[in-house]
Amino acid sequence: MLRTHTCGELNKEHGNKKATLCGWVAARRDHGKLIFIDIRDRYGLTQVVFVPSVSPQAHTVAQKLGPEFVVRVAGTVAVRPAKMVNKDIPTGEIELCAEDLEILNPSEVPVFEITDETEPSEELRLTYRYLDIRRPKLRQSLETRHKLCSAIRTFMNGQGFIDVETPVLTKSTPEGARDFLVPSRLNPGEFFALPQSPQLFKQILMVAGIDRYYQIVKCFRDEDLRADRQPEFTQLDIEMSFVTQEDIFALAEPLFQKIFKEVKGIDIPIPFPRMTHAQAMKQYNSDKPDLRQNKDNKDEFAFTWVVDFPMFKYNKDEKRWESEHHPFTSIMEEDLEHFEKGDYAKVRARSYDLVLNGNELGSGSVRIHQRERQKKIFQIIGLSGQEAQKRFGFLLKAFDYGAPPHAGVAFGIDRLTAILCGLDSIRDTIAFPKTQKGNCMMTDAPSEVDKKQLDELGLRKV
Ligand code: AMO
Repeated sequence: MLRTHTCGELNKEHGNKKATLCGWVAARRDHGKLIFIDIRDRYGLTQVVFVPSVSPQAHTVAQKLGPEFVVRVAGTVAVRPAKMVNKDIPTGEIELCAEDLEILNPSEVPVFEITDETEPSEELRLTYRYLDIRRPKLRQSLETRHKLCSAIRTFMNGQGFIDVETPVLTKSTPEGARDFLVPSRLNPGEFFALPQSPQLFKQILMVAGIDRYYQIVKCFRDEDLRADRQPEFTQLDIEMSFVTQEDIFALAEPLFQKIFKEVKGIDIPIPFPRMTHAQAMKQYNSDKPDLRQNKDNKDEFAFTWVVDFPMFKYNKDEKRWESEHHPFTSIMEEDLEHFEKGDYAKVRARSYDLVLNGNELGSGSVRIHQRERQKKIFQIIGLSGQEAQKRFGFLLKAFDYGAPPHAGVAFGIDRLTAILCGLDSIRDTIAFPKTQKGNCMMTDAPSEVDKKQLDELGLRKV
């Protein structure tokens, strides 16, 4: 190890002990004889003092230090006199009196100051994301995201779920957005799609007898971006066999209780209130109502389930019915009569959304598990028998081999992290996000490719 302690660790208990720290120079104050630097790493900040009589070598090298230089400093921990204590930081009772200083790497002058007090442009922040992530706010949001995902894994593993990975190169799954396509070199003229969600794979895992599946998984949707939308985002994806809507709620509510306890130290009351889609629209004119008493208050967390969504919506432009959630959702048995009569506007789905402070956090449904019913839904949304067979034949075939009744849900990890951190945009919950225009400023993707690559794929630019 190049260091004995981190920059957030030393306190008066370490007084008179030797320590070696590594980190970035956050600030340098040159008082002629005495030079002070603050040295920073992920864990905190420690003040280091260079005194010529203690180490002329260290004092000389310290004169050359600039912001964000990477250094290694060895010395003795000195307890500060009471009036010099900095109560704002955990290491504020001590300073490291330097005996040796090594510059591990110099740095260009950073394009913005590494503090939360400055507000550089989005363009600079995303181009120099490694500098942005050194700032406390962004680092803390990545730490919160990590805590959230570990709380989820502990909870789901404890409930007997298994984490199964599903393909990223796949066939298109309709979730209402455009697909990202990947040309296949080995099958010229054919394309994979990146998954909009693992919807069909998780259903097929139920046919395969996996019974309880979860995955923290990347999903890809080519849609117009907003503060709460990224083209690649992450879901906690869940599917269960032999269950009803009630079982999904009975799993999700204690899961959120654990998340809020572990990440924020808050006890949230369960069960969550429920309202029907019709009630939400009538009372709040929204299918994601914000039930907070006081909407400035960030510490208030108002969950609600919205249930009984309509099964279909009418697309006036294309003059056809579409699924409100997705075409694998089952209908409410009470509405079977309307369904059979073709009165589709009156048919409700066995689907549900979880809404938190006016944000749609998750969606799910009880699924169709019978081939004939699934074929009928495809037909209603305008897929001919042949087309349904071409796109979803593998699902229909799987349903012929003993598909159990099943249901599931998916929650947006980026949106949940943003709410837990009090952030307006999900962009700052993601280490390397895309801009509003769908670009990565740091790597400059998407970018042009060589003609040779296009030739191999059988593609031509027009
Ligand atoms: P749905 O499409 O509603 O359902 O997605 C579930 C949740 O994922 C989050 N989400 C997004 N987050 C960031 N950027 C996006 N572009 C984005 N799109 C969606 C939201 C949303 O509630 N397969 C079904 C789930 C199921 O039926 O089990 C699905 O993906 O928080």
